[in-house]
Amino acid sequence: MCGIVGMIGSRPVSPLLLDGLRRLEYRGYDSAGIATLTNGVIDIRRATGKLDQLAQRLVDQPLAGHVGIGHTRWATHGKPTEANAHPHATAKVAVVHNGIIENYRALRTELEAKGHAFASETDSETIAHLITDYLDQGLTPQQATAASLKRLEGAFALGIVFVGHNDLLIGARRGSPLAIGFGDGEAYLGSDALALAPLTNRIAYLEEGDWAELYAGKIIIHDAADKIVDRKIHITALSGAMIGKGQYRHFMLKEIFEQPAVIGDTLSALTTPDDALAMPPLPFDWKDVPRVTIVGCGTACYAGVVAKYWFEQLARLPVEVDIASEFRYREAPMQAGGVTIAVSQSGETADTLAALHYAKSQGQKILAVVNVPQSSIARLADVTVPTMAGPEIGVASTKAFTTQLTVLLCLALTAAQARGAIDAARAKAILHALREIPAQINAVLRDEHHIQELAHHLADARDVLYLGRGLLYPIAMEGSLKLKEISYIHAEGYPAGELKHGPIALIDENMPVVVLAPGGALYEKTASNIQEVAARGGKVIMISDKSGIAHVGAKTFWNIALPETDAAVAPLLYSVPVQLLAYYTAIAKGTDVDQPRNLAKSVTVE
Ligand code: F6R
Repeated sequence: MCGIVGMIGSRPVSPLLLDGLRRLEYRGYDSAGIATLTNGVIDIRRATGKLDQLAQRLVDQPLAGHVGIGHTRWATHGKPTEANAHPHATAKVAVVHNGIIENYRALRTELEAKGHAFASETDSETIAHLITDYLDQGLTPQQATAASLKRLEGAFALGIVFVGHNDLLIGARRGSPLAIGFGDGEAYLGSDALALAPLTNRIAYLEEGDWAELYAGKIIIHDAADKIVDRKIHITALSGAMIGKGQYRHFMLKEIFEQPAVIGDTLSALTTPDDALAMPPLPFDWKDVPRVTIVGCGTACYAGVVAKYWFEQLARLPVEVDIASEFRYREAPMQAGGVTIAVSQSGETADTLAALHYAKSQGQKILAVVNVPQSSIARLADVTVPTMAGPEIGVASTKAFTTQLTVLLCLALTAAQARGAIDAARAKAILHALREIPAQINAVLRDEHHIQELAHHLADARDVLYLGRGLLYPIAMEGSLKLKEISYIHAEGYPAGELKHGPIALIDENMPVVVLAPGGALYEKTASNIQEVAARGGKVIMISDKSGIAHVGAKTFWNIALPETDAAVAPLLYSVPVQLLAYYTAIAKGTDVDQPRNLAKSVTVE
């Protein structure tokens, strides 16, 4: 999704803004631009495509100026053309915007009637004209901003500069995140703290409706009612250096390989070395909770589906899990005393945030499982149990997913113990198995070449089916999502038991079917499905343990043998081969793995 940076100080800002935009690249974008104030005019460079295009433009036509704003655009209203790229400007202001202005048509009609000429198809340009209109009426930049913000409907984070005010940069937030950075004689704004990491580690996060005046040596923050307010300054631990790929070809591969370490970190925070839980205190008692609702989008939602099985089987606690974009408008009745769990890597996903607002309005306690502790979702929640995945840069989520699973299993076990639904020995056995997962994932990673070889066979497929039962059904969906996202091969994840109810009609000798079949109570059932696929000439790719592979009794096309593990923790282990399979298939196809087409890392608009 769009990324914003802004800076004011006494040195030329253009190279620093470009560097900030590079740090936001991972969010996904299709054009970019920078504006600075020079000699009383707004100077803008914009380019479609990757940031290198913009960088080249800046080499050909450098930008001077000590105050400026930059933007990476992920197209919503209007194609990814140069005219639609931000910043959008009039003769008086330049604006960068992340989000969607829902009433832009009405505002545009009103402003056009007053003689404002628009140069783009975007909703964002309306903001520049609206502020200009107020400036034309004699308002100061601060007054014009405050007046404009009250007219805007929708979600936004904004950066604004004003001709004739080289000492002023304004930022504003409603619905989309905005971080404000405090420097020595400089001030910054950015979509996240990562964008500002080399400039400062002192960050304040604007609250809903806040706007801020940034001067070289001073920052003034106002709330939605324009009252001056203090917002806490956080010292971020993000490294000033660009988060690098190290020895890896892509962030995604690096992040896949980081999983043993980050699952270990997450577990260290939530358990003791002797296989007991050490969870943070929660503002409710699991004993009294009648129902859990889990919301999330995409991969995060699939983590929620796994958690449903855990909460129901281990804690005997009913769980409803829903895609946040559906849940937010579904008007679901919610039981008093219920807990809603939001799962999100970024903590900024607009639909998940809106779903939480609904749950909160229904009197639910909100528990956030997020990877960014200062995110909007974390701040809305009554309590946060963080995943310790560290910054995830690859657009396709990997380590965030497995750390989400780690946290959710610990939560389900806590609930199970509080409700007396699990005996001590079984709880200890599951925790022990969970603590073994990092080492077992390492074993899978050591065998990556076997999966890399398989990927060459998958690269020509038009469609791929993923099957799993019980706890492995959501991993089948996650595996298929990973493949779709980065290799652009159509894939579907199905519960194996549903095969006969439709998808079996698709099976022929061209259809690879990835079957996740760990040992455990459901193994025999899944093995029967494998036989059904094999009998129809389907190419079975079987992911199981050695004994599962030995006993399947059907001809398979490829086997991936994983270490034996407790069935309760199998989703963590079985996630890794499907991630590697998607990654190497994408490599074989030559796609842009870390920034796949059309995708954004953090989906901050609806
Ligand atoms: C898939 C993927 C997305 C995200 C989804 C939610 O690889 O990354 O499906 O999981 O957009 O994002 P977060 O977790 O940031 O709320």
